[in-house]
Amino acid sequence: MALLNILTYPDPRLNKVAKPVAQIDERIRTLVADMLETMYEAKGVGLAATQVDVHERLLVMDVSDERNEPLVVINPRVVWKSDEIVLGDEGCLSVPGFSGDVERYAEIHIECENERGDTYKIEATELLAVCIQHEMDHLMGKVYVEYLSPLKRGRIKTKLLKEAKEAERDAA
Ligand code: NI
Repeated sequence: MALLNILTYPDPRLNKVAKPVAQIDERIRTLVADMLETMYEAKGVGLAATQVDVHERLLVMDVSDERNEPLVVINPRVVWKSDEIVLGDEGCLSVPGFSGDVERYAEIHIECENERGDTYKIEATELLAVCIQHEMDHLMGKVYVEYLSPLKRGRIKTKLLKEAKEAERDAA
């Protein structure tokens, strides 16, 4: 297994739209294992393939307190969503140090495959519902900061670009 590099906003690669996973094979199982390791190491609750610069419809999540209930979601399809909307504070491993309020469906049901190619259904509420929607947005090339006000988004962008430039300079 290996830790993968997580892209940081506003990296334009975060705006790429992912293609369906064509075949669930060893390459995909290795990617899943590496993404889970990367997500746990970064203490995140979810990670989309887009964030590690792989543009295929795949994401991993774990919203359990014990961090021992990994969920592998390949080629997710939304089959139902609630009328009820909830507003919650979200963060993202690609937007370190920030969070912001985003509206999401309170409940969402998806169908997807796991890393063995089995089709299964997730009926998600609360944090898991928010996480699924956040990660599925990544697969569409969308980062949650796009829901924030232009002012807040601008502040985040400026700060993260400055940090990236400093990191580059320190590495040189
Ligand atoms: Ni994210």
